[in-house]
Amino acid sequence: MTCSLPPILLVDDEKNMRLSLAALLAEDGYAVETVESAEQGEQLLEKREFLMLITDAHLGGISGYELLTRTRKRRPELPMLMITAYATPKLAAEAIKAGASDYLPKPFAPEELLLHVNRCAERHKLLRENAALREKVVSGFSLASIIGESPSMRAQRELIQTVAPTNATVLILGESGTGKELIAGALHSLSNRAKNPYIRINCAAIPETLLESELFGHEKGAFTSALKQKLGRVEEADGGTIFLDEIGDMSRSLQAKLLRFLEDGSFTRVGGNEELRVSVRLLAATNRDIIQAIRDNHFREDLYHRLNVVQFRPPPLRERGADVILLAEHFLKQFCNSLGKPVMTLAKPAASKLMAHHWPGNVRELRNVIERAVILNPTPQVLPLHLPDFELETKLRKNDAPTGALPDSLDEALAGLEKQLILAALERNHFSINKTAERLKVTRHSLRYRMQRLSISSEVSPENDNEAQEK
Ligand SMILES: Nc1ncnc2c1ncn2[C@@H]1O[C@H](COP(=O)(O)OP(=O)(O)OP(=O)(O)O)[C@@H](O)[C@H]1O
Ligand SMILES: [Mg+2]
Repeated sequence: MTCSLPPILLVDDEKNMRLSLAALLAEDGYAVETVESAEQGEQLLEKREFLMLITDAHLGGISGYELLTRTRKRRPELPMLMITAYATPKLAAEAIKAGASDYLPKPFAPEELLLHVNRCAERHKLLRENAALREKVVSGFSLASIIGESPSMRAQRELIQTVAPTNATVLILGESGTGKELIAGALHSLSNRAKNPYIRINCAAIPETLLESELFGHEKGAFTSALKQKLGRVEEADGGTIFLDEIGDMSRSLQAKLLRFLEDGSFTRVGGNEELRVSVRLLAATNRDIIQAIRDNHFREDLYHRLNVVQFRPPPLRERGADVILLAEHFLKQFCNSLGKPVMTLAKPAASKLMAHHWPGNVRELRNVIERAVILNPTPQVLPLHLPDFELETKLRKNDAPTGALPDSLDEALAGLEKQLILAALERNHFSINKTAERLKVTRHSLRYRMQRLSISSEVSPENDNEAQEK
């Protein structure tokens, strides 16, 4: 139990005392370093970490009191215990003043000494646990920071615990704001790579042409702006983890290179010939419909299978039941604390309003809603009036969608449906008339005709419109 603790430093000029105390402590599982003078003790204290210092009051050179005073200055955290044969209340007071956490008059029963030492050991363990917890909080990626008690969220946490210590590639699929990044972070934090780098790359935020050199680096002169050699992020991440966010936005040519990298960790820098190799674990996420992207030929199926060793699917918030309230209370606490306000409570009607909402922006939306409520609300309770008008927002978002009222005629209803379908196909094909026509299995001419009839030509960017007219 005590083997992971640092040793105890014992300073006493009496050899027998050193031997018997060391034996007593060793019997209880403590490691002990013994020295006969304060000077030797100081030397060791410079070099090593100790659980505590136990010193006799009267030593050959520097006294035990002096040793306490000097050590207190250099190592204010270190617990110190003084033992002495010349015990008087005055000397006891002096020892405490010099920085001893306690004072034991000789002769003492072994249990008395062990009581002190055990207390120090407990304190040491607590401090260590606290430090570890703090570290996790700072990185923000502990398992405990993933809030939710719904069965699906419990399952996500369990899966994280199972998969984190492995080297398995992970694909995280879910709507925007469902916590994909949080899952990736927790997977790294709980892995044996946790002490090594965690590199996050947002594939959608980096122009396609630069993404390859960002990932794999480039040699000097590889392209006009490559003035010197640049290491890739995969090299930076060696021994650690790379999280490729929005991987659905990666170009097909880069997907092929990523596939090769995933096979054996090998890659070449842009403009280079040398084959390099690193040990990196890959986590990837996307909020796109990846299966549709494969069907549309935007995403390589082989890469999908290679990434999909373990799949996480954080569910949309609207499917997590009362987690909405748990999360709301969690964010309330967080924002109130950071703004120095007393923690607000959630009034019942406000909670019902949160439960009734559809949450298209998922946890991120809820977080924003609570942040706004905390900022605007001067009272200790969040009421419905401090929350947005969700109904109005939903209506605004759906202003083009059918309102539920019956259309005037079947033709009108069909035209509405046709317009929605064409618009969706255009959007998915980045408003390219060619690709959309191909996808819908109609000629370009026919598509343009329908678009004109349904007055959607204005929704197409002029560039694409020209492309369509020219062909
Ligand atoms: N279960 C959860 N518990 C606590 N906070 C959460 C949880 N899920 C998400 N969050 C918080 O919600 C916000 C959005 O989460 P995150 O960035 O991980 O979403 P995402 O799925 O990566 O979204 P996007 O697809 O838009 O990148 C973050 O502030 C995150 O800390
Ligand atoms: Mg994200």
